[in-house]
Amino acid sequence: MKKILITGGLGQVGSYLVDALHDKAKITVLDNFSSTTRESVPEGVNIIKGDIRDRTAAAFVKKNNIIIHTAAQISVTASMEDPLFDAQNNVFGTLNMLEAARKASISKFVYISSAAVYGNPLYIPITEDHPQDPLSPYGVSKLSGEKYCMMYHRAFGLPTCCIRPFNIYSPRQNPENPYSGVISRFIDKAKAKQSPVVFGDGNQTRDFISVHDIVNMIILLLENEDANGHVFNAGTGKSITINELANMILNIFDADVPINYMPERPGDIKNSCSDITKAKKILGFEPKVSLREGLLEFKKQLA
Ligand code: UD1
Repeated sequence: MKKILITGGLGQVGSYLVDALHDKAKITVLDNFSSTTRESVPEGVNIIKGDIRDRTAAAFVKKNNIIIHTAAQISVTASMEDPLFDAQNNVFGTLNMLEAARKASISKFVYISSAAVYGNPLYIPITEDHPQDPLSPYGVSKLSGEKYCMMYHRAFGLPTCCIRPFNIYSPRQNPENPYSGVISRFIDKAKAKQSPVVFGDGNQTRDFISVHDIVNMIILLLENEDANGHVFNAGTGKSITINELANMILNIFDADVPINYMPERPGDIKNSCSDITKAKKILGFEPKVSLREGLLEFKKQLA
């Protein structure tokens, strides 16, 4: 049985990975417990409270065959307030994991980057070779992590691959967190029959991808050696306006309330949509969860 270390295994992506992989591999989670909505983990999963920046974390890396590195400082806003903290986690923390992996015999290292590396899109849909000019320290630190991963592949032959998720959603995103995504905020309001707040005119677009499709893509990466040394967009290839999203959520949650329009959020990008041709071609990736199905999952969890 393969041994997989999932850093950030209590977080949004990590916790769903644990659920999907725990009966196929021996899973160890390395997490600092900083942000989790998880109450329990499946039996047999080994949980280590630790920090990716700590050099002693290397000891856990070498006991595994595969590393899925999801632990990170994930907030764009927090990165603007404290760029050093962001870089310590996302740059040094990633480098610490890579360096430990280089010294161990690792058959795959998967890194979770972000569509934030692109900055303001120059064209849509966004391909992986679109210029990367991040607008936040978070975008820079994620890009830097990617560059280290790719360099470790070229220079040291470490089998690394990276994904750039667009807007991930799941019921495990905490709506109380001021940095959480628009879907959990809208659902939180709709459940309370309150108006969702739309920033700007609501005509901005986003490519929302279910965490289950992100997990599927990571599983495909684990099985594919041709993916090594590559970066893949992780989106659905389709986008929707924020107005359409708000109306869909109000409808699903039977909330008959008007939308509350507020001024545009400074620094917001207008449109975003992934081009996933590369992931389709190399990984055979196809997103399976439609936005409506993904939103209904939130409702099911409340029932
Ligand atoms: C997302 C990512 C971010 C990443 C960026 C890359 C999330 C939570 N954030 O930011 O990490 O760097 O993509 O491009 O996935 N909105 C409202 N009302 C709300 C909340 C948001 O109208 O209550 C609007 C925002 O103004 C924005 C859109 O919804 O236009 C999406 O916002 P959000 O979910 O925060 O994600 P991004 O800004 O796209």
